[in-house]
Amino acid sequence: MCGIIGYIGDSEARPRLVAGLQRLEYRGYDSAGIALADEELSVFKQAGTVGDLDLPVETPQTCGIGHTRWSTHGKPTDANAHPHTDCSGRVAVVHNGIIANYDELRETLPDHRFRSETDTEVVAHLVEAELEAGVDLRAAVAAVVDRIEGSYALGVVAAGYDGIVAARRNSPLVVGHGADGNFIASDVTPLLEHTRSVSYLEDGDVAHLTRDGVTVHQDGALVDRAVTTVEWDADAAEKGGYDHYMLKEIHEQPTALRQAIAGRIDPIEGRVELDDLSLSDDFLAGIDEVQFVACGTSYHACMYGKQLLEELADVRATVEFASEYDVGSGRDPERTLVVGVSQSGETADTLRALRTASRSGIRTLGVTNTVGSTMARECDDVVYIRAGPEIGVAATKTFASQVVVLALFALTVAERRSELDATVGRELVEHLQDLPGAVQGALDRDDAIEEVAVAYAAGEAFFFIGRRFGNPVALEGALKLKEISYDHAEGFPAGELKHGPLALVTEGTPVLAILTDGTRPEETRNNVKEVQSRGAPVIALTGAGQDGDYEVGFEVPELGLLEPLVANVYLQLFAYHVADDKGRAIDRPRNLAKSVTVE
Ligand code: G6P
Repeated sequence: MCGIIGYIGDSEARPRLVAGLQRLEYRGYDSAGIALADEELSVFKQAGTVGDLDLPVETPQTCGIGHTRWSTHGKPTDANAHPHTDCSGRVAVVHNGIIANYDELRETLPDHRFRSETDTEVVAHLVEAELEAGVDLRAAVAAVVDRIEGSYALGVVAAGYDGIVAARRNSPLVVGHGADGNFIASDVTPLLEHTRSVSYLEDGDVAHLTRDGVTVHQDGALVDRAVTTVEWDADAAEKGGYDHYMLKEIHEQPTALRQAIAGRIDPIEGRVELDDLSLSDDFLAGIDEVQFVACGTSYHACMYGKQLLEELADVRATVEFASEYDVGSGRDPERTLVVGVSQSGETADTLRALRTASRSGIRTLGVTNTVGSTMARECDDVVYIRAGPEIGVAATKTFASQVVVLALFALTVAERRSELDATVGRELVEHLQDLPGAVQGALDRDDAIEEVAVAYAAGEAFFFIGRRFGNPVALEGALKLKEISYDHAEGFPAGELKHGPLALVTEGTPVLAILTDGTRPEETRNNVKEVQSRGAPVIALTGAGQDGDYEVGFEVPELGLLEPLVANVYLQLFAYHVADDKGRAIDRPRNLAKSVTVE
């Protein structure tokens, strides 16, 4: 996730771009840059925050674009910072998203000189090639975006060209209509000090901004995008209109999930291509065990990943709390792989576990959200989950993205070990592709979940039960609730309930039960009966068309082994609304930290 901004008008562009980028820094802040255009193009960019940018004091230009980066392709270096330019240095591009086919596109430009490792730079060169063919900048960008696969919000300027051209698909982009000029931005945050009149671009739109106005084309035809008035104050807008970052991040899950799989599934063959992995076929063929290590929410993602790996790849897998990890006895280091999973890539317990494994000669793989993190630097291999910055202390979107990346990993290992059942593999790939839409379906029921959460918020304690893939989701649901509402919440494998925790169940303890596909629901239904007969109300997350006698029921669509991940979205929203009803400090719960860098 990155932030982009653009301005063309009667005033100096530089201060507007810089202030706007500072507003967008919550979207990423590992490198920044601006490009100013008149008859010439001037580009200033470097690793670091917007405040670190080395800019001249006098900049007369009244047109420019800017970017604050959160690395996905390529480390946070000066060369990889945006804007990216073409060979002639006359075209500059800022981009938010992932260009899945950038390698392929790059190969079509053998004579061009590339200077960065990013997926974005190819756009500048493609635009250059179009301009050389004699079209104007708007037509050039329109032709280029037709060839791009993946997601993008783009801002493009060129020397000697009066205007900014912008385009979007699956990444946000807003146009601001101000009294002294027009803007583009990733969200309305940076616009509010200049204008409240905005229009939202739609997927496939190509917009042309000049000092006098904005025109928008879709498939070559002029279209009208309504100008609306933003009601938010600047503070709310920073959270994209949501009351809390956590709620915003819960709602970002469809985008995060699309980013997690972008370019990693061959659209024709349906095969998974996790290029980041350098594990050899020989190593995987001979492997005895995969050990997952992680903490908190990442640990729950590992529990899900372990089951997927065992099921698909026929390899023994274990999950350990990173703080408890020891190599243990009876293992051949050369036939073991340790996979560390961490949103931040900085959790001390997880880093310690990985170093312990490494010292014993075990190969390590890091799965993280954070490019340039210690985990990314120290592990033998690293795979990014690409969920974008997560600011709320309670992890939400990164859990879903971690599980999806572990599913891609399991498919890759299974394939390389020649263990992948073609039908099972194809079905899981289809479900991965359908997951963002199914998650959106759950998010669309937010109001109904809020009603249920408020109705049950006074519970004395909350229990979460599920089997198989439902077990990690039950644990994660309970963790979310306790983290942000401070209520007593516990998750159990459903079968364990009767071996102790049942003593705590009363009319005052709502039980949230996961009964979707992938959770052996027919067995868990017995446990549901056990708690209901002790008076506890049951909030059930069921698979499609599964009847049952529950106090509250929500259905998730058919998605095989990924159904519990959709159920998890209901649990996230339930936790959020219970905590909100109690007026808790949702984004910064007491005693907790986003990234715990002490053991
Ligand atoms: C902290 C956070 C948790 C998080 C855990 C692991 O305890 O409060 O939300 O799940 O660390 O973080 P990581 O960055 O390693 O995923």
